[in-house]
Amino acid sequence: MTARSTPVGTPPAGTPLANLTVTTHGPLPDQPGRHIDPTLPAANLVDQDIQVPVLGGGLVRHVNLDLSASTPSLVSVAQRIQDLQPYYSSVQRGSGYLSEKCTGLVEDARANIAAHANARPDDLVIFTRNTTDALNLLATAVPGDTVVLDIEHHANLLPWRSRRVVESRATLAETLAVVRAELASRPAALLSVTGASNVTGELLPLVQFADIAHAHGARLAVDGAQLVPHRRIDMLAAGVDYLAFSGHKLYAPFGAGVLIGRADWLDAAPPYLAGGGAVGNVTLTEVEWKSGVDRHEAGSPNIFGNISIATALADLTEIGWDALCEHESALRDYLHAELGQINGVRILQGFPDAPDRLGLAAWEVSEGSVGLLAAALSAEHGVSVRAGRFCAHPLVARLATRRNGLRASLGAGSTLDDIDRLVDALARLLKEGPRYEYDRGPHGWHPHHDDRRC
Ligand code: ALA
Repeated sequence: MTARSTPVGTPPAGTPLANLTVTTHGPLPDQPGRHIDPTLPAANLVDQDIQVPVLGGGLVRHVNLDLSASTPSLVSVAQRIQDLQPYYSSVQRGSGYLSEKCTGLVEDARANIAAHANARPDDLVIFTRNTTDALNLLATAVPGDTVVLDIEHHANLLPWRSRRVVESRATLAETLAVVRAELASRPAALLSVTGASNVTGELLPLVQFADIAHAHGARLAVDGAQLVPHRRIDMLAAGVDYLAFSGHKLYAPFGAGVLIGRADWLDAAPPYLAGGGAVGNVTLTEVEWKSGVDRHEAGSPNIFGNISIATALADLTEIGWDALCEHESALRDYLHAELGQINGVRILQGFPDAPDRLGLAAWEVSEGSVGLLAAALSAEHGVSVRAGRFCAHPLVARLATRRNGLRASLGAGSTLDDIDRLVDALARLLKEGPRYEYDRGPHGWHPHHDDRRC
């Protein structure tokens, strides 16, 4: 049984593609000291000019506004992976020249990642599959309760075994106070917070959370999935005990993630993966598990994924974190200003006193299905956004008056034109409805007659 959308006041199917041409928006809202560097993006990212088919025929430039979920690769990262292909060999388990070389490259990557994050000298840098994997690993090592806020995405909510969830308040100042009260009322081993929300883009004041955790004998873990690709983090200065992040949100989409942090809990934890590389000696009755990174990295590592993370961090540093931040912040202000002018759009916002915000906006619409809107944005306009609850169901339930929202998220490769394309298409869809019919199936909305051809 499928639901069917009814186009409202739409032009007839087959309206020439030219009629969809985006309008030109006015200049950026006046932002002293801010500018958008048009040369920043395209020079550094691959696949910025992908043509995708739209309903009714024709191709349009793909607009990828789902960069909080996954990013394309930096050119430097893709090139590095390409250059390494002939040298691919066994890592940490071979005596040949290439094996030693590959082992050295992975260990260099580990050291460079630690240096980038300004980890303590004795911190472990453990390669994982992604942030979720890294936080699940840390969860096996925590010797007590973990306190989290209700704003977290599921990777920083579900893994914790003895979890105490603190309800956030209207402001960060009040929320810090309730976290302090929670830790004062009952000891916890760990406080785990996101560096930046994947729903509101709001950054959390990590130094203050670290101070509160440490004052009450707890440690601070930071889910850096959203933060690390957009801001440089200094673990030592901020007092961050553990940091988790993913390559696939960091312009290094080659299947790896990282957990950085203090060794003692990790050395005392059961090996995350049991197998070769994690052991010193094995008999049929006894196993001598290693300590350090080896303990949790059994099996052959993801050479390309691990190296790509270090390469991406180095390249982003070369581009300049201030320049990236300025670029994305200017685009974010433009995105928010433009969305704010569309009738029926309400942007989701959490803490008015957040110290900073990433380049994203999530919003709800006053009527209609956001899933249908997302499907039509893609099928009719070539614009990719995310619809739903963004793997942060409790936060969306708290902020939104309706069940689901839409999200547009920006990155180093985003442009003003990307935002214009979204805003024009969204305004048109909200005013006139989709131009085509869609069916709702078990996996969301899809065009009733899909004539798109790649
Ligand atoms: N990866 C999820 C996102 O897109 C959490 O925000």
